[in-house]
Amino acid sequence: MQTQSNNSPIGIFDSGIGGLSIAKCITEQLPRENIIYVADSKYAPYGEQSFETIIERVNTIAQWFIEQQCKAIVVACNTATVNAIDQLRAQVSIPIIGVEPAIKPAVALSKNKKIGVLVTSATAENPRFISLINQHKNGSSVFVQPCPGLVNMIETGQQGSHECFALLTKFLSPLLASNIDQLVLGCTHYPFVSEQIKHIVGNNVNLLETAQPVTEQLSRQLKQHEIVNLSDSCGKILFYSNQHKANHNQLLSSLWSTQLRFTSFI
Ligand code: DGL
Repeated sequence: MQTQSNNSPIGIFDSGIGGLSIAKCITEQLPRENIIYVADSKYAPYGEQSFETIIERVNTIAQWFIEQQCKAIVVACNTATVNAIDQLRAQVSIPIIGVEPAIKPAVALSKNKKIGVLVTSATAENPRFISLINQHKNGSSVFVQPCPGLVNMIETGQQGSHECFALLTKFLSPLLASNIDQLVLGCTHYPFVSEQIKHIVGNNVNLLETAQPVTEQLSRQLKQHEIVNLSDSCGKILFYSNQHKANHNQLLSSLWSTQLRFTSFI
């Protein structure tokens, strides 16, 4: 039995803290909406998990959101979107909004038609992702760079370390050698190292992320399904995680400029 209403929360999840880059944009632009965020950090990185594990985690979290009467779900993770969104949509009747690397806008913006894409290993190998590139590349050269180890650095709060800088330099060097002028951040964790990336790639490479288009797509879906929250007050946001790390609470508090904590999730 459906018990969702316009005041029901929107469930947002990622393998960890990466989806907070999207949750922040949603809370700023749709401030009346109630949000439940799940960081599935115990199973991060999804990018190094099997297809079966990704499907199992996505279904478990979606089922929990439905038990919380969520009216829509945002899969704030490129890896989970390309691997599991079709089967999820086939199972649940509420709107499901996914995240896909911004290949199409990158192609439109590129002057020299050379585009780099940073992704997790599980996204790089995924047929849906490969077909997204073929669909939108329109004669451009698209260089895909998997970044194993990078999500783990961000999850464990090491994004400012020399090791992280060295890892980024290793992943970005071949893209710079290919003379890219657009760089797509194809994982929601990567905006948390965008300053380090800019330092390495310089001013001639434009970075693209997906928080804004995902928020716009969510807004359209809420209107289309007539489930916009029309309350006069600001919505509540609750954060759940299944692996507690001090740096996660720090990131939350600094993003929302107030003291916040993750609560335990199964
Ligand atoms: N943040 C996720 C993504 O956008 C998942 C990264 C991972 O857990 O490997 O792909």
